Amino acid sequence: MQPRHFLSLLDFSGDELRALMQHAIDVKKRLKAGVAHTPLQGKVLAMIFEKASTRTRVSFECGMSQLGGHAMFLSPRDIQLGRGEPLEDSARVISSMVDGIMLRTFGHERVEAIAAASSRPVINGLTDKYHPCQLLADIQTWFELRGDIKGATVAWIGDGNNMCHSYINAAKQFDFKLKIACPPDYQPDADIVATASDRVEIFTSSEEASTQADLIVTDVWASMGQEKEQKERKRAFIDFQVNQSVMRAANPDALFMHCLPAHRGEEVSAEVLEGPQSVVWQEAENRLHAQKALLEFLMGSPV
Ligand code: CP
Ligand code: NVA
Repeated sequence: MQPRHFLSLLDFSGDELRALMQHAIDVKKRLKAGVAHTPLQGKVLAMIFEKASTRTRVSFECGMSQLGGHAMFLSPRDIQLGRGEPLEDSARVISSMVDGIMLRTFGHERVEAIAAASSRPVINGLTDKYHPCQLLADIQTWFELRGDIKGATVAWIGDGNNMCHSYINAAKQFDFKLKIACPPDYQPDADIVATASDRVEIFTSSEEASTQADLIVTDVWASMGQEKEQKERKRAFIDFQVNQSVMRAANPDALFMHCLPAHRGEEVSAEVLEGPQSVVWQEAENRLHAQKALLEFLMGSPV
């Protein structure tokens, strides 16, 4: 039987994602109460990072330990994948020994190739196209603070990047409205927008997109792999900073999220990032809890 994978939010049904959120909240409560929860005893997750990471690495590694299993960090510098061993061969060999694989990489086709050849579940830890694990943490944070996100209005300000694409998937799966404001040359992929055209609206001004929003979200102007474009992106994105004027356009109780790392003074002002509407630290912590629920769903008994 083919294993389930988590390459994007579209791999799970809306009901499965909602159940995952409830389980993540429950798993967090148990951890805070000091109650052990170790359903993945003896299980091993291989983590391949072709890009840098703080949150993803720490959360998966801690998560596996807390669930009673083990996480193995594999740098392409040290494994044969980095010397040209095909992705498919690596996936067949690694998955014959471990219980799951997490990959952070560049092209989305790389994680698809690993998944196609793996006999165990594969998790997308970020590609140039999607960052679904971050969305689990973001939506969990919303559920904790505001309840179900169905029917809410979310504004995405900035680059039409991997995070923006995952927000489009989330709008479809969790049934919320998504207003996107990006510079003209940095719009999200039109094919991805088309999959959720009844939920997504594109704007040219940050204030317009933020009007009546319940949640404002942004991300860096230059993602990993785009370091050389940094200067030209800074110029293009100058009007797409989330600052007090953008927050004032939103509903008064709107929340602010950012997947981090953040660049204060670029995509977000320091005032907003550290302000009372910002929930970025809770959002970052929830990477741990949401992914524990995901790991249990894919590698343990169903939630
Ligand atoms: N948000 C996020 O994925 O952070 P890292 O790059 O530190 O893993
Ligand atoms: N869009 C960013 C997200 C980092 C977590 C990147 O891909 O670098």
